[in-house]
Amino acid sequence: MNNLFRKTIVALGLIGASASALADGNVENGKAMAEAECSACHSADGNSASPMFPKIAGLGEKYILKQLRDIQNAEEGGDPKKSKRVVNEMAGLLKNKSDQDLQDLAAYFGVQTMQLSGAQEIQVQVNSGEKVDGLKLGAKVYRSGNLENGVPACSGCHSPRGLGNAPASYPRLSGQYPDYIVKQLKAFRSGDRTNDGDTKVMRMVASKLSDAEITAVANFIAGLH
Ligand code: HEC
Ligand code: HEC
Repeated sequence: MNNLFRKTIVALGLIGASASALADGNVENGKAMAEAECSACHSADGNSASPMFPKIAGLGEKYILKQLRDIQNAEEGGDPKKSKRVVNEMAGLLKNKSDQDLQDLAAYFGVQTMQLSGAQEIQVQVNSGEKVDGLKLGAKVYRSGNLENGVPACSGCHSPRGLGNAPASYPRLSGQYPDYIVKQLKAFRSGDRTNDGDTKVMRMVASKLSDAEITAVANFIAGLH
């Protein structure tokens, strides 16, 4: 077997393995764990009742699995070479879970349907001090970005309707609580959240957003569909 051929077989094998690892998530097992261990904050169907907790219904199975692995890896004794995400509210919760458990949870929440939060009529104060229509600004940032300060359109990755791109592990955004979106964009901007990979894609995007743009785009996303 020549070398290139062998490498191709190995690569195909890896793709096959990762695809089946995802397909192996067991929705029924995930549901039992979700009801017992996640529902207090995220509700049993992932549509968290309080804006203090993100909705996790239908974010995308692959994205959810990645977040669970990152949250688990942030526990004491985690692998320093792999990405981490600190969620204090979930401390200890995933520590003793197997990777299969995480796959089951991701499979279950991945097939739930996210309910919209709804956007509000708001005014936001831009850097010049002027107050502008927040919904209009949010729609503009989401759909076209901002040429002046180099913000790319969110729709390019998160899709025009905010549904994300499940195979690429770009999360669904539409319907999420605006407070949570604001918190994440500020965390990417300050570097408190770093699990967006070596490309630092969300840290780059967020570093260019003003406070007014963050408030506006988060409000717009809450009602996007
Ligand atoms: C005590 C409350 C609490 C419990 C219980 C809890 N979570 Fe969370 N979870 C949170 C909070 C708060 C966040 C958001 C943290 C932040 O702001 O970054 C979060 C974030 C997440 C995220 C990332 C969401 C995103 O959009 O990136 C996932 C996935 C998640 N939780 C899954 C679970 C699962 C699965 C369980 C059950 C095994 C669970 N959580 C139990 C509070 C909780
Ligand atoms: C080039 C692709 C790309 C662009 C453009 C992009 N994003 Fe993202 N976004 C991602 C990826 C990838 C992630 C997941 C990072 C991870 O795995 O933790 C993400 C995650 C997020 C999250 C966290 C979601 C959650 O549930 O915690 C928010 C909020 C977000 N993006 C908002 C935006 C907004 C607003 C814009 C436009 C101003 C934008 N993104 C533009 C790729 C992109």
